[in-house]
Amino acid sequence: MSDKPHRTDDTSDTSDTDSATAEPLSRPLTIGVEAYLSEEYARAERDRLWAKVWQQVGRVEELAATGDHLTYDILDDSVIVVRTAPDTIRAYYNVCSHRGRRLLDTPPGKRDARGRGRGFVCGFHGWRYDLEGRCTHVPEREDWPRGLSETAAGLSEVRVDTWGGWIWITMDPDCEPLRDYLEPAATLLDPFHLENMRYRWRRWLVFDCNWKTALEAFMETYHVPYTHPEFTRFGSFLGWSRAQGRHSNIGYDAPKGLDENQAKLRLGGGTDPRESTAELQNFTWANANTNTTRTLVDAANRLADEVPGEATAAEVLKHWLDTARRKDAERGVVWPTVDPAHVAKSGTAWQIFPTSRSGTP
Ligand code: FES
Ligand SMILES: [Fe+2]
Repeated sequence: MSDKPHRTDDTSDTSDTDSATAEPLSRPLTIGVEAYLSEEYARAERDRLWAKVWQQVGRVEELAATGDHLTYDILDDSVIVVRTAPDTIRAYYNVCSHRGRRLLDTPPGKRDARGRGRGFVCGFHGWRYDLEGRCTHVPEREDWPRGLSETAAGLSEVRVDTWGGWIWITMDPDCEPLRDYLEPAATLLDPFHLENMRYRWRRWLVFDCNWKTALEAFMETYHVPYTHPEFTRFGSFLGWSRAQGRHSNIGYDAPKGLDENQAKLRLGGGTDPRESTAELQNFTWANANTNTTRTLVDAANRLADEVPGEATAAEVLKHWLDTARRKDAERGVVWPTVDPAHVAKSGTAWQIFPTSRSGTP
């Protein structure tokens, strides 16, 4: 991770930006190739990493009604996450307490098992469990005249919690509380009310590489001018990456005079910020289909009509954001009001260790 701000193009003048001061790395470090190739290393990750961390398994709104459930598979483990009451979500190992058959099978071609019910029935010998994980029915129970052991009483529980509208699980009973685990990300992101956000679209992809190779590409903006050169024609942005405890974030510094925005929403460069902003917004909408909204694109497209040509970049920015905020408020979508200094610190996207990534629009 770079500790130095870097530009997405190298032609611009550094005098017009407030450079973010990042904590310097304590020492240079090369990660050995075994971290990406060695089976032994992957097994150590299974035991010492995946078994110990909090993992994001879905959105709270995906379990809208009591009885809604989904499964989450990680390596050899499978976990059922279920809403057991309007205000309670619980999680269990997806393992029958009788002979260990998987309770919920992932349908062919699907990534997980989802559904709604009053409990779970094992497909092997028909033991039944209620939403609280209690075994409520054992066929031919009288055939165990000496009774069943205690483990037969129910499913093994997995720790579950929510933050930011996401559901998280950990298989480590001794793991620190979710909130502590997420800091400082949780405190920096709380004002954005991520719990009020919804997916616009989602796609599952399987990358033919080690999981870290894929994630590391999202931890920096250093690659933008060469990997996504199409974006540099809209101006130059000073990008940074910061370590934040076990997590990290990336962002862009605000050009001077545009602090209100702290470069979360970028104006286009060029001579007419009204036009270049609209161009950048339309380009982003059409090509990335993320990092903006229909409201912002529409408001950018109205800038040329609504803002005089002699307006400064700061005035264009203010008008764009004010009108977009108002349009959204009219349809009941209220943007959180966040102090610009806080916005600057929070950056544009977070990597929550080990695998979650969240933008802060
Ligand atoms: S393994 Fe589930 S009922 Fe026997
Ligand atoms: Fe990229």
